[in-house]
Amino acid sequence: MRNKQVLLTGGTGGLGLGVTPAVLAQGADVTVTYRNSQEVERLKGIISPADFARLHFVYTNLETEASVEDLVNRMGRVDVLIHLVGGFSMGKTHEYSFDDWKHEFDINLNTTFLTCKYSLKSMLAHGYGRIVTVSSKAAVEPAGQLAAYSAAKAGVIALTKAIADETKGTNITANVVLPTVIDTPANRQAMGTENADEWVKPQSLAQLICFLASEAAKDIRGAAIPIYGNV
Ligand SMILES: NC(=O)c1ccc[n+]([C@@H]2O[C@H](COP(=O)([O-])OP(=O)(O)OC[C@H]3O[C@@H](n4cnc5c(N)ncnc54)[C@H](OP(=O)(O)O)[C@@H]3O)[C@@H](O)[C@H]2O)c1
Repeated sequence: MRNKQVLLTGGTGGLGLGVTPAVLAQGADVTVTYRNSQEVERLKGIISPADFARLHFVYTNLETEASVEDLVNRMGRVDVLIHLVGGFSMGKTHEYSFDDWKHEFDINLNTTFLTCKYSLKSMLAHGYGRIVTVSSKAAVEPAGQLAAYSAAKAGVIALTKAIADETKGTNITANVVLPTVIDTPANRQAMGTENADEWVKPQSLAQLICFLASEAAKDIRGAAIPIYGNV
């Protein structure tokens, strides 16, 4: 990814703590979107100062089309989109509010659509692109209380595969990864550390994501790759 312009959404989140340093280590120029400045400081604490010049932070709400369009225009060119943004909530269907249902789709599926849409315009204009999106095991093995999350993440797989089909015959690819539980600070806080050894490490996911985002992965398109650790 040397000298590639990478749009990395959610790069300050729990998974981002593994992915952002890994993408920088590939020599890329990285634009990370954020909403919470405390998360920016947490990430900066683990980035090598030598990489700071290639790392840019842009405050963006990715649920707003105009903001995403502006972000991509400001970058000038997007070679690689790594879209980590997502969110999780659960509840029994008969008790789950419609507002929460719509929020799950906004945060997981609609942000993916908007970032893909505007990144693709740039990629198609210059004939190169790598798109990596994040779904979940819950998309292909839905469980009780996860209807909204599972449905939204299933949408992410469908969207990514459709883009892969639309971009056949070009040097643009789109692939999606399906993690189970990731070993993030938030999950450790919510679930304790007893089973943390079984969870997928952000660094491990980062290796997979970096490969899919690289020039070398030019023949992989429309793959939905499970990465379940020992869960
Ligand atoms: N953690 C897991 O166990 C797990 C398992 C399977 C799949 N996944 C998926 O993996 C991805 C990363 O998860 P994670 O654990 O790193 O989540 P996270 O720590 O919550 O990070 C997500 C990031 O996205 C940002 N974000 C949310 N909504 C946004 C919006 N509308 N505009 C801009 N930024 C927004 C969040 O910012 P704020 O802090 O401001 O909200 C946060 O920085 C997600 O797609 C998630 O669904 C996670």
